Amino acid sequence: MSKYDFDTPINRSGTNSLKWDIKDGELPMWVADMDFAAAPEIIKAVVDRARHGVYGYSVIPDEWYDAYINRWKDSHGLIMDKGGLIFCTGVIPAISSIIRRLTHPAENVVILTPVYNIFYNCILNNGRRVLECELTYKDGEYSIDFAALERALSLPQTAMLLLCNPHNPIGKIWDKDTLSAIGSLCKKYGVIAVSDEIHCDITDPGKEYCPFACASEDCRDVSITCISPTKAFNLAGIQTAAVYIPDRKIKNRVERGLNNDEIAEPNAFAVQAAVAAFTKGGEWLSELRRYLYDNKRVAAETIDAIPDVSLVRGEATYLLWIDCTKLARGGSHKLAEHIREKTGLYLSAGEEYGKGGESFLRLNIACPRSVLLDGLDRLKKGIELYR
Ligand SMILES: Cc1ncc(COP(=O)(O)O)c(C=O)c1O
Repeated sequence: MSKYDFDTPINRSGTNSLKWDIKDGELPMWVADMDFAAAPEIIKAVVDRARHGVYGYSVIPDEWYDAYINRWKDSHGLIMDKGGLIFCTGVIPAISSIIRRLTHPAENVVILTPVYNIFYNCILNNGRRVLECELTYKDGEYSIDFAALERALSLPQTAMLLLCNPHNPIGKIWDKDTLSAIGSLCKKYGVIAVSDEIHCDITDPGKEYCPFACASEDCRDVSITCISPTKAFNLAGIQTAAVYIPDRKIKNRVERGLNNDEIAEPNAFAVQAAVAAFTKGGEWLSELRRYLYDNKRVAAETIDAIPDVSLVRGEATYLLWIDCTKLARGGSHKLAEHIREKTGLYLSAGEEYGKGGESFLRLNIACPRSVLLDGLDRLKKGIELYR
């Protein structure tokens, strides 16, 4: 018997939602934003704060540090110390700021592609170079080409590696040995590894992610970890995240950067929402993970039955990565546009995620089951009409 309701659709139109800013009859299953209300425990914390009525400047209290430290110790096996943890308003603002502070213009930042498209913006908009290291894709499975990665990290112009762990859009949880091998290479070539772990709490039931910083001593030494409750608890609009850096010298430099960029201070709800999520949201999150897993199984059944497309099996995130290699002549943008035009289903074209994503589609399944079924129906029709 479930305690929380993920089944009832919530009308989000009229709320200035980026995802739902669409034409009548369209169905958005693109941006990584869930259509579920936040856990009642979080809503209560935010409403209690709102009721107070005075929304002046805030500080970061001890309970915020304790919430992160205890959650990562108990659920993910990473021991963080308070001195290494910094509040920031978002993972992407933090990554951009870290790139500006720790690398120089025209230096390389390595990414493993296909990867979260906004990583490109963080690097290019700050005048640094993107060095794409394409993942190997074989028999429906992704892995890292370590020879290519070593070549990229060994270049004198390479200053940073930007990891996505678990990896959006392929849904992969990197294992400890893989992370440890990456850490050894970063240490060998003096490259800082920024690990974006925003999706870490959305794993299939029974599956756990390994934080990069606890995969090995080398990983710990070179690591900057970005974490947040916003993906798993659907709080993106509240703008609340954290950066954890074990090395004190690196931490001090990053902290000055985050302050200089004015992204190290919380709004009136940021602390309350994060503390409630990590201290009271456990049961909701367990139910959500089961619900998303069932959604994934329903989606897999439909997608597997569509000729010429196949679903890449991932164990994390609520984003499905669909291989349309046999179909996507002229690129997945064309296919995604066709599906949107013919059926109203709005999903993401794999091209946005860089090298290796050209013939894939990304589908967000974090919605009530009835909405998912509608989306899958549209996907099937759209692909049939494209053929
Ligand atoms: C890998 C990854 N990092 C960061 C973000 C966004 O983080 P924030 O909203 O905290 O800037 C997303 C959102 O989809 C994401 O997928």
